[in-house]
Amino acid sequence: MKEFILASGNAHKAQEFRELFRGTLTVHPAPKTLEVEETGKTFTENAFIKAKAYFDTFGVPALADDSGLVVHALPDLLGVQSARFAPECLNYADKCRKLIELLQPKEDRTGYFICVLCFYLSPEEIYFFEGRVHGEIGLSLRGEHGFGYDPIFIPERNERDGMSLAELPEWKNEFSHRAKASLAALDFFKDSIDKTHKKP
Ligand code: IMP
Repeated sequence: MKEFILASGNAHKAQEFRELFRGTLTVHPAPKTLEVEETGKTFTENAFIKAKAYFDTFGVPALADDSGLVVHALPDLLGVQSARFAPECLNYADKCRKLIELLQPKEDRTGYFICVLCFYLSPEEIYFFEGRVHGEIGLSLRGEHGFGYDPIFIPERNERDGMSLAELPEWKNEFSHRAKASLAALDFFKDSIDKTHKKP
């Protein structure tokens, strides 16, 4: 079984990974959360910066997730800056309300969540996986599950019932940006996991 420490103090991300990787990859919390400056211009750069910092500090394979919300009508406000959007807001419910307010005059409410995973096994072995989920920003906050911008993100699904990611925890576990990136990683590591499980 491949084991990693999670290069993040975000308990919500840790919980999602536990469910996504159940029985395949083991993701442990890091011995302590590091303050890593995310100076990259892309999700890939930031995922690399975080994974490398944890590997360098703790000397064991590290998994970092850099993710965010891209809103087409507000190209400079979120994206890699998603965690730093509207710093005057004290919580994510307020950030969500702020985003709804900024989008009021805009016609285009579409966007996507993106997740880039960096598996830093050693300086010679570093792997990246990406996943996206497309959708649009709703007109109000809906749902109690998930975290961050989930209550205002209405993913594209066959059903057109306007439900947000915060109302769709099972769907999120299967089809979210993080789920897609994680499935790609599982597919890649599958061979070595299968070999580890097989008795000689
Ligand atoms: P990071 O921790 O630097 O990757 O920042 C991610 C930002 O995007 C934070 O503002 C999160 O709340 C937001 N975010 C990332 N993934 C999700 C998600 O699955 N749902 C809701 N918000 C998310």
